[in-house]
Amino acid sequence: MYSLPLSYYFNNASALVYGCMGLGGDGASPLLTAADHQQAEAAVEAALDAGITVFDHADIYTRGKAEAVFGALLKRRPELRERMVLQSKCGIRFADEQGPQRFDFSPEWIRHSIEGTLQRLNTDYLDIYLLHRPDPLMEAEPVAELFQALQDEGKVRHFGVSNMQQHQMRFLRSFMNTPLVANQLELSLTALDWLNHGVDTNTPWGADLTFNAGTLEYCRLQGIQLQAWGCLSQGRLTGRDVSGEPESVQKTAQLVTQLAEQHGTSREAIVLAWLQRHPAGIQPVIGTTRPERIAACVQCSEVTLSREEWYQLFVAARGVRMP
Ligand SMILES: NC(=O)c1ccc[n+]([C@@H]2O[C@H](COP(=O)([O-])OP(=O)(O)OC[C@H]3O[C@@H](n4cnc5c(N)ncnc54)[C@H](OP(=O)(O)O)[C@@H]3O)[C@@H](O)[C@H]2O)c1
Repeated sequence: MYSLPLSYYFNNASALVYGCMGLGGDGASPLLTAADHQQAEAAVEAALDAGITVFDHADIYTRGKAEAVFGALLKRRPELRERMVLQSKCGIRFADEQGPQRFDFSPEWIRHSIEGTLQRLNTDYLDIYLLHRPDPLMEAEPVAELFQALQDEGKVRHFGVSNMQQHQMRFLRSFMNTPLVANQLELSLTALDWLNHGVDTNTPWGADLTFNAGTLEYCRLQGIQLQAWGCLSQGRLTGRDVSGEPESVQKTAQLVTQLAEQHGTSREAIVLAWLQRHPAGIQPVIGTTRPERIAACVQCSEVTLSREEWYQLFVAARGVRMP
């Protein structure tokens, strides 16, 4: 039975998250075009029609324009807001006259970021606010104090993190009065460290695995929702030309096509069902801007892969047999 940890906090949370990183058009231009507005409206409508209620943003996506184009839609159609679980992220700063691209979890920057996000999204509150990428200079106590203040002010309901290892989460959580509800990580058939670290112990190739052991288990024990970014592998397993890619990617793409035919479903549904077959209750964050691909993705709710199919895909994507 597929169980979503986030349902504990939001009874309308959907199994898929719609990732808004591709909305807002050209990041190099500060202006939103009519085409950007049309694209955002079509994508959000397609997502809602398909039963997706959770929407993922970040202050940096298309340099604020993803939030702005979404907020313009909410301004035109405010009734949509209460159907949504709205989440955004902060803590990545682009290079500017003050410094290189960097991470900033200082309370001043987080405060600045959330005020901008709420304004652009045209909303009084976020349902979930994530720290985007671990800042080595983070001081946990002031961050926790700011989180408390933002909750007290009604600006954020729940907090989470992204790209964090279990030790970083434990450390931060120990200063907080409120739980962490989500951790967004790159989890897919083409980014396999999250599984390989658990099966490649004491192998020659296991030595340079970077995914921190125990993160998955920590999230499961704490009821923290794992969200998978990059879950469609940017189309590499679902139709994009992969002739220049490693053999493992090409073979996995072929297998995905074969399984899609056997199950009478889309290729997107197979790669998402593969993530959902894991017992952690992973919530894939789909980043496509196209309504037809959104529809192809939600077909995953009708697919359950067998253990054998799951391992076929895992072994093909690893490119190395199980030990
Ligand atoms: N927390 C983090 O650090 C982090 C990092 C990256 C992303 N994210 C979140 O995760 C979401 C998804 O991430 P993502 O966009 O990197 O990954 P994704 O969902 O794996 O890939 C989406 C991208 O792949 C393209 N694509 C999908 N199928 C395709 C196909 N068959 N042929 C050609 N192109 C295809 C899409 O283009 P179309 O739009 O044309 O379909 C889109 O550009 C983002 O929107 C964002 O919300 C979070």
